Amino acid sequence: MKKPDTFLQIGILGCGPIAQFAHLEACRKAERIKLYAVCDQSEQLARKMGRFYDALKIFTEYEEMLADPALDAVIIATSDAFHLSAAMQALQADKHVLVEKPLGTDLSQAFALREELKHRGLHLQVGHMKRFDPGIAYAREFVETGLGEMVAYKGWYADSTHRYDMTDSTQPIPYTSTKARKPAVDPKADLKRYFMLAHGCHLLDTARFLAGPIRSVHARYTIKDNMHSWFVDTVFENGANGHLDLTVAVRMDWHEGFQIYGTRGSTLGNIFNPWYFKTSEVRCFSEDTGEFRQILDNKAHFFKNQLEAFAGSILDGSKNPGADISDGIASLQAMQAIHLSVERGEPVEPNSIREGML
Ligand SMILES: NC(=O)c1ccc[n+]([C@@H]2O[C@H](COP(=O)([O-])OP(=O)(O)OC[C@H]3O[C@@H](n4cnc5c(N)ncnc54)[C@H](O)[C@@H]3O)[C@@H](O)[C@H]2O)c1
Repeated sequence: MKKPDTFLQIGILGCGPIAQFAHLEACRKAERIKLYAVCDQSEQLARKMGRFYDALKIFTEYEEMLADPALDAVIIATSDAFHLSAAMQALQADKHVLVEKPLGTDLSQAFALREELKHRGLHLQVGHMKRFDPGIAYAREFVETGLGEMVAYKGWYADSTHRYDMTDSTQPIPYTSTKARKPAVDPKADLKRYFMLAHGCHLLDTARFLAGPIRSVHARYTIKDNMHSWFVDTVFENGANGHLDLTVAVRMDWHEGFQIYGTRGSTLGNIFNPWYFKTSEVRCFSEDTGEFRQILDNKAHFFKNQLEAFAGSILDGSKNPGADISDGIASLQAMQAIHLSVERGEPVEPNSIREGML
């Protein structure tokens, strides 16, 4: 494996909306990153994005991009169903991987990927980019240093019916192509599944990031007028009581956040729609000082921050709070456990789930 020194030469697989909204710009903004290549099955998309963002190479075949010895790492920005196979191909071609969330849709394949990774000196990070929201990072630091023992965690994630009116104002109109590669089944054909994969994985990763591993979930689900709602009674490994709420879409503004109670303090977080690139409003109260503290840190291009951490861990071994493959798998297990718990009407331990399609 080539050891990159000053810069990481990145290739982006997929020039669809998420690449256009997040990763291409993150490559321009991030330090120590060079956008070396882009690849899309749609030649039109690959050329348009590659030229606009000054990629040195433009590919339509993933295998050809992976065969390029100057490429250090790939960002996998494709539909969920392709994540795991694309990540496996990248590892086998000796490339580091930053794969969009969720890690994939097939648990057995995810475990096989983890096995593959064990035999290679490569980095694989899952794009749970909320970990790089400075407000959420601040809450995590407080949990580790000022909260005392965690007693309870409440987390909620509610997409809004007005979301697209709002994000249409902040996002560019994505370029699309009829030649884009799509999975055999439209991911949005089953909205219950889609909402869990698209949004539930953020709710779960933020909960795990702040409160640690989940021991068990006991979930209820209801749907009315196309509004899907999961309430999940959660037990964390640290013994904290948990309650997770995924509701899509609420008839109001975007509504995401957490409340954490500890024996020495509490922290309350209000998370914004990610496409505003705004640091979460997080307040931490400490019994020691009798004060609330809150940061104002607007370096909130989460995708840029995650890419810099990815590069830092590869280039000089810096500590990286990003989600590793085990976090990616834990998120899939938790989503599957919620699904099974709804079906069975009983608690399910995510860790007991080793296979299955999400
Ligand atoms: N982090 C976040 O908050 C966030 C937000 C939105 C979407 N996402 C994730 O982004 C992903 C979806 O991205 P999208 O909407 O841009 O997907 P998309 O399917 O619209 O576009 C993906 C592009 O990848 C190309 N592609 C796929 N496989 C290829 C291959 N083997 N070779 C060449 N080209 C290939 C397709 O042609 C397509 O143009 C999902 O995994 C989703 O969960 C993450």
